[in-house]
Amino acid sequence: MSIRVDLQDNPYEVHVGRGVRSSLAERVSSLVPRAKLAVIITTPMLRAQPWFDFALALPTHVIEAPEGESGKNLATVERLCDELTALGVSRHDVIVGVGGGATTDLAGFVAAVYLRGIAVVHVATSVAGQVDAAIGGKTAVDLVGGKNLVGAFHQPRGVWCDLDTLDTLSTRERIAGMGEVAKCWLLEGRSVSDLATTTLEEFVTMAVALKARVVAEDEFETSGRRALLNYGHTFAHAVELLTLSRDPDALRHGEAVALGLRFEARLAHRLGRIDATEVAATDEVVAFFGLPSRLPWAFEITDVLAVMARDKKAHHNLTFVLPGVQGFSTVADVSADEVVATYAEFIGGLE
Ligand SMILES: NC(=O)c1ccc[n+]([C@@H]2O[C@H](COP(=O)([O-])OP(=O)(O)OC[C@H]3O[C@@H](n4cnc5c(N)ncnc54)[C@H](O)[C@@H]3O)[C@@H](O)[C@H]2O)c1
Repeated sequence: MSIRVDLQDNPYEVHVGRGVRSSLAERVSSLVPRAKLAVIITTPMLRAQPWFDFALALPTHVIEAPEGESGKNLATVERLCDELTALGVSRHDVIVGVGGGATTDLAGFVAAVYLRGIAVVHVATSVAGQVDAAIGGKTAVDLVGGKNLVGAFHQPRGVWCDLDTLDTLSTRERIAGMGEVAKCWLLEGRSVSDLATTTLEEFVTMAVALKARVVAEDEFETSGRRALLNYGHTFAHAVELLTLSRDPDALRHGEAVALGLRFEARLAHRLGRIDATEVAATDEVVAFFGLPSRLPWAFEITDVLAVMARDKKAHHNLTFVLPGVQGFSTVADVSADEVVATYAEFIGGLE
């Protein structure tokens, strides 16, 4: 299955399925015809996995970054760029990012800045990477002051979502990745009753197709279409940040998104945008994937509000993507009182 990200200037395909990585060798040569070298950026743990069997038709080097989020920083970018220079990588060559979202974000950013930009393709190996991070050209690394604060738009030439790679994910990472799939299921208005008969490949394909469509409509996040993918994320980012300061391992991003979907559905209901059956359906979708329904801690609402008001899409007021009778939209200036009341219900109902 191949899904096209139909951008005007640089359209590309996302390949989804078991074993699709075998087409990488031939495709890279046609996508980047002048490349004389390929450099795979990955991590030592991923390199040791049984599916790491890439045989490109070009001389290929592998360079290693630290695992996951710990590699997403400017120090790693500098080291990787030094390694690219030492290998003699030219602006016609190609980087292959192999890993979860953190690694493809890093590889994408290195590709965006090395020699002012060289070609990159991604092999996304986590659910979150396949359905979200590797598609759409947003690349970034973290600063001490926050995640993804230094970045660039740099579209890949192609993305491979090989389901074989998901076999080696831990159960927790796999379920957490389903937080974004649950979000896409709800955004697409899909029925709860279809969940049980949908395969992993169909879930990934559905979410990839949605992301591809939205990115093609709003490549640089200027029209607001792409912001709709942030459903659940205002609340998710707040509780993620508050959790991080207590225990960095207590809440994965996708788990926070699941909580955000439940919270924001309740908020939409309180604002009269959806009825109670839609809230119940949201809960069922989240529960189907085995995603959590409880916050790790009952944070003070004043702390939650303070973080939400700092959210990057909020511009200092409370902004949410919410469902409504006419579909999803970005709702600004939500009253703090409504958020406080929703939070009280959310905490009370779930604990
Ligand atoms: N660029 C974007 O548009 C975008 C969108 C969403 C998320 N992101 C970024 O993506 C990251 C989150 O993605 P993630 O959840 O994939 O995180 P991640 O890359 O940190 O992967 C999570 C963990 O799973 C491991 N892993 C990955 N693939 C594996 C496999 N096949 N087998 C065994 N272990 C594997 C990783 O090593 C890591 O320990 C964050 O940095 C986030 O900012 C970017």
